[in-house]
Amino acid sequence: MDKLQIFDTTLRDGEQSPGFSMNREEKLQLARQIEQLGVDIIEAGFPIASPGDLEATRAVAAEIKHCRVAALARARQEDVDAALRGLEHAAKPRLHLFLATSDLHLKYKLRMTREQALDQIVKMVRFGSQHCEEVEFSAEDASRTDIDYLTQVVLAVVESGATIVNLPDTVGYSTPDDYAKMFRDVRARLGAYPDIILSAHCHDDLGLALANSLAAIDAGVRQIECTINGIGERAGNASLEELAVALHVRQDRYAVTTNIKLEMLYPTSRMLSSITGVSVPPNKAVVGANAFAHEAGIHQDGILKNPLTYEIIVPEKVGVPARKLVLGKHSGRNALRSRLDELGFQTTDAELAECYRMAMLQADAEKEITDRDLISIIHKVRRGQAPAPAAPGSSAATVR
Ligand code: KIV
Ligand code: ZN
Repeated sequence: MDKLQIFDTTLRDGEQSPGFSMNREEKLQLARQIEQLGVDIIEAGFPIASPGDLEATRAVAAEIKHCRVAALARARQEDVDAALRGLEHAAKPRLHLFLATSDLHLKYKLRMTREQALDQIVKMVRFGSQHCEEVEFSAEDASRTDIDYLTQVVLAVVESGATIVNLPDTVGYSTPDDYAKMFRDVRARLGAYPDIILSAHCHDDLGLALANSLAAIDAGVRQIECTINGIGERAGNASLEELAVALHVRQDRYAVTTNIKLEMLYPTSRMLSSITGVSVPPNKAVVGANAFAHEAGIHQDGILKNPLTYEIIVPEKVGVPARKLVLGKHSGRNALRSRLDELGFQTTDAELAECYRMAMLQADAEKEITDRDLISIIHKVRRGQAPAPAAPGSSAATVR
């Protein structure tokens, strides 16, 4: 199994999207958590963007010792100088240089010819490699770049000292087949440099960021750039938790390993939401409130018989707390009503009385009642399927 490097850019691509800006302390808190989560590289910021971003990058770089810390810079001297200042105290620094390579960006945004851009890129990658132990180069808008020019740029940066080459789908335009083909074409022409790590960085404008990242892995990519909760420019980046869980659940399909501690995914997602005040949509894969909720009666029935019928991963595996309501003979109706409320069921007094009766019968037999049990009970009550009250002398277990 090959090792896949996880490059987390929550603090850079994620943080630069509207509503997600974080101050130095918040970035530090999240960086510590992301390091514990097991990522390989944390992109701490884009130091030229503001003095605050430079300061936060320096703070993260000084504190994070196990992961590599990256700082972003355009292929321009003042950007590179700022990024190197940001990385000054990093134990394992990575300078992340980028410049757009598509004709569209060159003509309208940078107003440069292909030759001018290539010169500028080579100059800055050379300079960066002399001042930082590791250099990554990103060809911005790679997926819309002419493949011959892209390959020329990739060979030039590798010859100038970059050891990681990232080919982003900057505007989320690519499809899995096209994206994989681009990597295969580039790899084929990198024959003399088998150790160069190719990296994918996908945006979700067409909802394809995860699919494109997985296709890139199939094509030999061994670094994926992603973010917690999939935050990032516009529709966001590939989401780290979706990627990690996809690779875990489909180990049969993707022969790569990561160091991600799956049980930290949910707590990390919650920490980001509480820091930024932006909650995760309920239907979000892995970390959304409904990701493990089962509403349809047929699904609940299947889950109760065997969770594998409708769950491809147990919630506890990704750190979603198993909410259990311990109901015993002394439990009150209020506890039951408030848990049902939290689960989204407002009950009438009659429904509550019936739920309580059924819950007590089950508690006698099983000692504790899970959220799944409660949902099943309330649905039965509402469908009029509650069992008849037990005859005097019969045991709770037989009623169930
Ligand atoms: O989307 C993109 O192209 C980027 C690069 C700067 C890596 O974020
Ligand atoms: Zn990006």
